[in-house]
Amino acid sequence: MNTALNDHFSGISVVRAFGQEERSAKKVHLTLRNFTVTMLKALFRGAFFNPGVNFLTSLGLVIVLGAGGYFAYKYGTPVSEVLGFVFYLSLFYGPISGLAQLMEGAQEALAGGERVIEILDTPVEIENLDGAVPLETCKGNVKFENVNFSYDPARPILKDITLDILPGTFTALVGPTGVGKTTMVNLAARFYDPSGGIVRLDGYDLRELTLESVRKHIAFVPQDTFLFNTTLAENIAFARPEASFDEIVAAAKIARIHDDILEMPDGYESITGERGVKLSGGQKQRVAIARAVLAGAPVLILDEATSSVDAETERMIQRSIDELTGSRTIIAIAHRLSTVINADQIAVFKDGEIAERGTHSELMERGGLYRKMYDLQTAEG
Ligand SMILES: Nc1ncnc2c1ncn2[C@@H]1O[C@H](COP(=O)(O)OP(=O)(O)O)[C@@H](O)[C@H]1O
Ligand SMILES: [Mg+2]
Repeated sequence: MNTALNDHFSGISVVRAFGQEERSAKKVHLTLRNFTVTMLKALFRGAFFNPGVNFLTSLGLVIVLGAGGYFAYKYGTPVSEVLGFVFYLSLFYGPISGLAQLMEGAQEALAGGERVIEILDTPVEIENLDGAVPLETCKGNVKFENVNFSYDPARPILKDITLDILPGTFTALVGPTGVGKTTMVNLAARFYDPSGGIVRLDGYDLRELTLESVRKHIAFVPQDTFLFNTTLAENIAFARPEASFDEIVAAAKIARIHDDILEMPDGYESITGERGVKLSGGQKQRVAIARAVLAGAPVLILDEATSSVDAETERMIQRSIDELTGSRTIIAIAHRLSTVINADQIAVFKDGEIAERGTHSELMERGGLYRKMYDLQTAEG
């Protein structure tokens, strides 16, 4: 019931946009009715069960008293013995009715327990291995060595990827959708382990390091931004709640969201709404960039972080990110190729492999896939 309600309420704009209010309402109504029917059934049975047990125990007492009275009258059984029986009977019934109540509780607990255990039993795929050491300081060298990866063994996503990303450089990953660019950066942050090969941070296999220290040194702007339903300041300072207001503003300026925030009625104290509904797509992305910048990690990963930002603002963000290069390693997945012209290296992905690599001018000269993609984009304007 909760799933159905949550789904249809959070998807309400889609429901309205496609004029499916009636069908949605019907679906929710049906789930609610199923819940009501099931609940009523349970209550109905409960209403019979407990009085039923009580009735049977009383019936026992009646039988003992009746039979005892008959035996006392007919065969002279001593009354004390009959009373003794009545006494024993109450001793006997106490645990019986207790057991009945226990059964009812156990049934409920069992139904809930099954679900809880299902969640508890979910295997943790990525965890600290025995002997993992923390990486205290990090220069920001990310290296992929013959990395293979697949979500489903039958379908390899990354094939034998080798890429060395030097500290303080700007590396761009480009290529069509679905080739595995997001997967690649997910491996760098160790959201998954490679099926073959090694991902290294400052020369260490990521699996030799504690997860906390890996994630501390890598700041991530995911493709789907997520904002918490709280103030903008708190959203930006998420990775470093102790950050000063000046630091928050500095990060917001780098992400070019500062001016937008000042225009909001409550400034940095404005509430973003659930999942950030009160912001535009581009604003949400810029808040997410500010959050990652403020984290201050030596490696900054941007996964199509400016896809909803207009070209002009994107150029400005790009300029501030270019300024960060040198002090931080930047890995950016980019759709608009105009943003990667200054990259130290560009890796062009095709079918899970790096088809070409080099700087913008090298790749343009080469006249391969990158050239084709670039010409196509500039022709579109
Ligand atoms: N969590 C996942 N489980 C299974 N398959 C996935 C998952 N994430 C991505 N994929 C698949 O892996 C491929 C590469 O996806 P992705 O790395 O997101 O590509 P890109 O970022 O280059 O568009 C796609 O075919 C996608 O369907
Ligand atoms: Mg992607």
